Order: sequence, then structure tokens, then C-alpha cells
Amino acid sequence: MEKKKIVSGMRTTGKLHLGHYMGVLTNWVELQDEYDCYFFAADWHALTTKYDKTENLKNDTREVVTDWLASGLDPDKSTIYVQSMLPQTAELHIYLSMITPQNWVERDPTLKDMTKIIRGDGSGAKTDTISYGLLGYPVLMSADILTFNADVVPVGHDQLAHLEITRDIARRFNNIYNTDFMKEPMPKLTQVPLLCGVDGQKMGKSFNNDIKISDTEEDTTKKIMKCITDRSRVRKDDKGHPEQCEVAFKYYQIFASEEETKCCAAECAAGTRGCADCKRNLAKIINEKFAPIREKRVEYTNNPDMVDDIIREGSKKAQIEAQKVINKVRELVNIY
Ligand code: TRP
Ligand code: SF4
Repeated sequence: MEKKKIVSGMRTTGKLHLGHYMGVLTNWVELQDEYDCYFFAADWHALTTKYDKTENLKNDTREVVTDWLASGLDPDKSTIYVQSMLPQTAELHIYLSMITPQNWVERDPTLKDMTKIIRGDGSGAKTDTISYGLLGYPVLMSADILTFNADVVPVGHDQLAHLEITRDIARRFNNIYNTDFMKEPMPKLTQVPLLCGVDGQKMGKSFNNDIKISDTEEDTTKKIMKCITDRSRVRKDDKGHPEQCEVAFKYYQIFASEEETKCCAAECAAGTRGCADCKRNLAKIINEKFAPIREKRVEYTNNPDMVDDIIREGSKKAQIEAQKVINKVRELVNIY
């Protein structure tokens, strides 16, 4: 039986952090064997909010793909490409944009949140500008997915509303052109183990509280040493409360073995483990886990041609698949 198709993408906003690794990448790596996977760096989606800050765009795109490869995405198993290198997506986006009612995109709650953020802190587009392209965000995302007629889309909760529009658009396409060609893709919710930043807030580059996949061991250790711990603990032999240790102990639960985590909790509660030692040990555990990934990453960074070749090959493969869908769509829409 033919494998089911999976499509997923990530906006290219720079180097990825451990939250991306634990929340998304480990999941993608696992899916590679069971599904026919298409993973792409969404540089057009990055443009929807950063059209006036593109000086790092090309570099960010390569960094994202480098993080993927280091984390175990395998070009022999998955098709890895860059969104803007698949012109078929742009063509499908045009057809889909014609059939998408304006109020569908205006209602999209995720988009509403995005535009609020943009208006609020000025981190995205100019404060008063919601561009035509940004309004089309879910339509472009639909084109990403439908251009392969994908079965399944692994996404986080925040993307579900977009995917609902994708399913609506697929259905509407079928109704209008009297066909059942377009599949309604199913979301596959990623179980994100919530990895907070070193300050206990949501991990994110803009909050300056993240640990990057690409960070050195020294940087990682420095950041871990800043983690918040049990605030009620003053001296290092005070009895601690692991469950009140807001960041460090949570990291143990995610990164350390069960045995190490148990030992940490017991020693903390007994007051025989100081927080500084505890965090130094945590840094060691994280650094050991990421050592092979970082090693691989350095290899790719030293050979950017390898990454470019993988992207070029992946884009070629993606184009061949996507063109089959476009040919059928052109036929259905009666394009000359
Ligand atoms: N919007 C997604 C995000 O911000 C990225 C994305 C773009 C995507 N196109 C996609 C995800 C298609 C899945 C399928 O995370
Ligand atoms: Fe947290 Fe470890 Fe300190 Fe306990 S000893 S409060 S688990 S950092």
C-alpha cells in the first residue's frame, strides 16, 4: 500500500531552540518511516510579517534546515525543501485565493492573534499595516498542503484554525469544480511537552530566554545556571521543593532519565543538593544529549554546500510531485 502523505512547515525566523526540538522535530523524525513526508522552510510565510526586514532571510532559511538535518531529518527518507523553491505552491495559491470567501480569512482566530501581536509590539509588520499577503496566510498554508494533496498535517494547537480553513477550502474546491480530487487533510496534533524558557515564561527567541540547538556547551551551561529554582530556598542545605522549582526541575523531567530525576527530587527535598550543583549537573545532561546533534550541525555549517544540495534536490523532488497536482487542478479549472 502506498504510504500516506504528510506535509509540514516552519516559518524561517532563525535558529531553532530546544522547544522546537522537543515539541516538533523529534516528532517529525519519528514520522519519517511511516509516512511519505514533505518538510519545508516557510520563507514566504516569514515574509507575511517581515517583508521589510529581509536582510537575514536567506541565512535564516539555511539555519532552519541545518537544525533539521542535525536533529535527524533524513533527506533519503523525507523530501526537504524551501517553500519559495516550489513555484507550484504559488500557482495553486492563486486558484485557491479566487474561491476563498473574504470572511473566512478575516474570521481566522490565529490570524486575528497575529495581527494583534503585530499591532501591539511592533515586532512584525509596521504597526498599522496588515498586508494583503498576511490576510492570505491561511490560503497560502492551504496551498502548501493541497499542492501535494496531503493526507495528514502535523501541527501544534495554534495552527488548528488555519487547518480548518484548509479543509473548508478543499471541500469548496470540490463543490465548485464538481470533483472529489482534493483531499481534506487531517491534523495530527503534536503532543508538545511544554518547555518553558529559562525564566519560566514561554520559550522564544524574542524573549531572550531560549537555549538554541546550535548553542555551545558553555553558553548552554551559562543559561542553565540562570534558571529559576525553588524561590523559598535560601541556603543550599535548606530543604527544597522540586515541585515548586519552576524551571530546573521541569527540565530534569524532560531531559534527564527517570533515575536521575528521582535522585534529584530526593536530594533536593532532603537538603543535600545545592541548586548550583543541581543546575551544573542538569547542564551536563543537556549537553550530553545534544552533543551528537551539535557535532553534526557543525559539520553542516562547515559545508554549507551540502545543505544547499539537499535543498536543491528536495525542491526538485517536490516539484515533480506538486506538478502532478497542478496539472489536474488546471484541467479541473479549465485553465488554457
Ligand atoms: N504556519 C505554520 C507555523 O507558523 C507554518 C506553516 C506554513 C505550515 N505552511 C504550513 C505548517 C503547512 C503545516 C503545513 O508554524
Ligand atoms: Fe530545583 Fe535542583 Fe534547586 Fe531542587 S536542588 S530547587 S530541583 S535546582
